Amino acid sequence: MNSEPHTARWSINDSAKIYSLDNWGAHLFTINKNGNVCIHPSSNAKQSIDLRILMDDLIKRKIKPPILLRFMDVLQRRIAFIYQVFKNAIIENNYPKKYQTFYPIKVNQQRQVVEAIASYGKRYNIGLEVGSKPELIAAISISTGNDLPIICNGYKDNEYIETVLYATKIGYNITLVVEKLFELEKIIALSRQLEIMPVLGIRVKLSSKGTGKWSTSGGEDAKFGLRMSEIIAAIRMLEEHNMVPCVKLMHSHIGSQITKIDKIKTSLIEATRIYTELRKMGIGIEYMDIGGGMGVDYDGSKSSYFSSVNYTIEEYANDVIFQIKNICDEAGVECPHIISESGRATVAHYSVLVTNILNTETQCAMPDFEGQLAHAEKPVPTVRKLLDIYKSIDRHSLREDYHDTQQLMLETVNLFNLGYLTLNDRATAEWLYSKIVLKISTILEKIKPVPEELQNFNLHLRQTYFANFSLFQSIPDSWAIDQIFPIMPIQRLNEKPDVMASIADITCDSDGEITSFVGQHGRSKYLPMHKINSSVDYFIGFFLIGAYQEILGDLHNLFGDTNAVHITFNNKTGYMIDTVINGDATWETLKYVQYKGPEILKNVRSNLEKDVAAKTVSIEESSQFIERLDRMLLGYTYLVDKTETG
Ligand SMILES: Cc1ncc(COP(=O)(O)O)c(C=O)c1O
Repeated sequence: MNSEPHTARWSINDSAKIYSLDNWGAHLFTINKNGNVCIHPSSNAKQSIDLRILMDDLIKRKIKPPILLRFMDVLQRRIAFIYQVFKNAIIENNYPKKYQTFYPIKVNQQRQVVEAIASYGKRYNIGLEVGSKPELIAAISISTGNDLPIICNGYKDNEYIETVLYATKIGYNITLVVEKLFELEKIIALSRQLEIMPVLGIRVKLSSKGTGKWSTSGGEDAKFGLRMSEIIAAIRMLEEHNMVPCVKLMHSHIGSQITKIDKIKTSLIEATRIYTELRKMGIGIEYMDIGGGMGVDYDGSKSSYFSSVNYTIEEYANDVIFQIKNICDEAGVECPHIISESGRATVAHYSVLVTNILNTETQCAMPDFEGQLAHAEKPVPTVRKLLDIYKSIDRHSLREDYHDTQQLMLETVNLFNLGYLTLNDRATAEWLYSKIVLKISTILEKIKPVPEELQNFNLHLRQTYFANFSLFQSIPDSWAIDQIFPIMPIQRLNEKPDVMASIADITCDSDGEITSFVGQHGRSKYLPMHKINSSVDYFIGFFLIGAYQEILGDLHNLFGDTNAVHITFNNKTGYMIDTVINGDATWETLKYVQYKGPEILKNVRSNLEKDVAAKTVSIEESSQFIERLDRMLLGYTYLVDKTETG
């Protein structure tokens, strides 16, 4: 990469290519003629929200970055899209029954998100899937009875089961899925005791496994589900208590983000075979719930890599409908209604975290040792050798000089540690090294083929861009499982981004750095970025983070929830801010670890009073300090210096 920008020769299409935008953007994100990223809330390409303008407007409203932008129209668009794709597959395959999505709320339990999904999804008969008592209460609080069906998965105690039974009694459309045989014993006992007949589902443990990071959710060793022998035992138990007619649903789930379509097909075949056998045994199952797993192409590579998927939603839906119909027809068994618990595919796209770049590693000017070297009578031998290399290196001496430079830099540190080099000598060597690296990379641009050991050489030029966010809070899967999320600047995309960068967060953790990105030709070890001007905000966006990230995020270094803004498209004004949710204030994150704001102030004040009495601190100094702490406790946990626009 050259150091000079080539604005004239660079177009927004070039930017779209290097960030692979069209491959992961799902027709939701584009770049406008001003070089800013836009989001399209509907399929009408003219309707768009310019993310850079939006950020500037939010900052004018004194909402500080990092800001989680939640685009509620995108939720609506995804729900409608998934439904339509299944509807098309049903028509194409002449499938006699219906399709229904149950949104698994573990993927993102935020009340406004679940409410929006329930409200938009009404016309598609969407339901909610829950996996714990708190999630059950959340779903019940949103449902107004039988208008929002609920499926209950997860381990259950008596309290969970009883609540579901009472909810059934008063008219909720709620299905209790048996995850374990011992759970069924409890369910039978409680329903007999309370004289309430539940609607039951049976989760089956398929031998088929998914692929990718969550493959252990399926297969013989999976945590949940009944083996075939347990299913037979369950039926016997239910028969004994005349409860077989309660069973209306069969559930299976082989993992999230299934990357290969053939694994999906295999599991569908197995699940449908079990369904047909159960139907032949007289079990009146009406619904086949195929669980989650429909993946998201985060890196846009359309591959079976774990951040991608090698199929489209259309292909997924077609395979589901086709396989189920085919096997049911072969077995002469009535087809079931089909349910999928697609979480990730529903919500991943709706939120974008945008934050400001605070600084770059090389932002502070490095001293120039040129003059000093010119006047030095006799540089130390290590520095002199590096200087010789710098002056003479060319394409013919490249490899040898590269090896010698590496050796000399090791020597520099050793000699410094032994006391033979001064700090100034070492700094000069460091400066020469950076000059040699630049020269080598210029030479490498002109030679082909590049020697094998120098193929990744340009990574020496990678700069660290410090972004105002916590990776552990906002994109925890990037750290926990090396998940790749699309990341790109949201402005200046009509300029060539000349800098190769890694993105570091503001936690004091060396793991808080991203060095793997979505690139033009697959994964890339750097993100193309523009040189930043410290007086103008430069924002980057982290995309497709709506699934799992918001709830899995943690409080590393006590960086809390970010500010969140719910936005909808508006024909007249472009956009409307529906809700602003303030991020955690410092006192709130401290409270999670048992520090209470008023107590903190009380303790500091009483300590300072002793100093005031001893006259080592003045009354003014003491009260100013308390005031400062008070302000900080009420303030944002992220850095708030640099929002020039506002
Ligand atoms: C039972 C169940 N259903 C649905 C899901 C959601 O899966 P996804 O987000 O891949 O659609 C999960 C997640 O692992 C799950 O365990």
